Amino acid sequence: MLTTKSNARLADLGAVRSDSLLKLITLANADTRADKIDVGVGVYRDGQGRTPVMRAVKAAEKKLWEAQDSKSYLGMRGDAEFAELLRPILLGSHAADRRIDGVQTPGGCGALRLGFQLVAKANPSARVLVGTPTWPNHVPIISGTGLEIFEYGYYDRDGRQVRFEAMLDALASARAGDVVLLHGCCHNPTGADLDSEQWREVTKAIVERGLIPFVDIAYQGLGRGLEGDAAGLRGILEACDEVIIAQSCDKNFSVYRDRVGCLFVKTGSEEATGVAMGHVLQIAREMWSMPPDHGGAVVRTVLEDPALTADWRAELDEMRARIISIRERLAAADPRLAYIGGQMGMFSMLPLTPEQVLELRETHAIYMADSGRFNVLGMADHAIDRFVAAVTDVIGG
Ligand SMILES: Cc1ncc(COP(=O)(O)O)c(C=O)c1O
Repeated sequence: MLTTKSNARLADLGAVRSDSLLKLITLANADTRADKIDVGVGVYRDGQGRTPVMRAVKAAEKKLWEAQDSKSYLGMRGDAEFAELLRPILLGSHAADRRIDGVQTPGGCGALRLGFQLVAKANPSARVLVGTPTWPNHVPIISGTGLEIFEYGYYDRDGRQVRFEAMLDALASARAGDVVLLHGCCHNPTGADLDSEQWREVTKAIVERGLIPFVDIAYQGLGRGLEGDAAGLRGILEACDEVIIAQSCDKNFSVYRDRVGCLFVKTGSEEATGVAMGHVLQIAREMWSMPPDHGGAVVRTVLEDPALTADWRAELDEMRARIISIRERLAAADPRLAYIGGQMGMFSMLPLTPEQVLELRETHAIYMADSGRFNVLGMADHAIDRFVAAVTDVIGG
């Protein structure tokens, strides 16, 4: 935090509060026990505990390397064809709706920041409704824009389910023009998604109150499949004139470090969307000028080649099947873990106190967030039984 001294220098900066997830990574890396398990990091892992480059991505990188003859600037929109090819996958029957426009961003984080910065420009007094717990980076990203956050309890840890009435109450108390942050699918950190009836009710409440839905969709294809995971978003697009979507390809193309995302904005008319996109591009220019090219170009290369697209879809299906099978295995291992089988995506929350999380770390070399959030894919296949035994041991009973 900055001091109030008028002649403050960089050396006067106070230390930042360290990010607990980053601290966890450091601790896990420093642990020399050979059988340690790190379920804190949110990346897909295969049966051997690796995060491989997807086949279609590897092939596209080769193709791109052979074909690319310039690295000259592309412009503020980045790879426009990349955003265009994502439309049918993300927007479905809304892909042809030109009231929706998209630009490439540095990952889903870039799309989130850009979208909230746009809201702050249009209506600085808008509040953002955030269901808790949420992905730890949501709050800092939103706060950084100066927008006020209104938190409500989204998840019942004891009942292991969405607190749907509390969510509807929060929406009912919102003011017209307030923004509602929604996880498109595979809720991070709880794994507890809305069902289709709940999406319908949330959409209805948003329309009735004149709210603006902001859908963060970072795991499309890893829960119910590419179509099922976008169904809630598409219902929102059907019903609402103004919608903001932060999309990430980093998980479903496994290109995490390449930072691939897209911000889509919908308004009630093509003209108004054009004006809004002018602001989006101006804000992007102020923040990063232009997005990095490589990852977007790779995804574009996959999506413009039918054979590579088919292979990407097939491998994504394999990844989803693995997530489901591990969830089922954990759910079958102990009745207290049964709820994990009904949830979606990479994450779930264990019913653990911070002391029990510490015990797992110290006694069993198992690393997870203090909240009990863990990546169901965080361990290699051979480590699952040890993980379950340790967790049930610390839960006791
Ligand atoms: C809910 C959610 N939104 C957005 C992101 C951002 O993803 P990216 O790595 O593309 O910035 C993540 C990443 O973990 C996430 O879990």
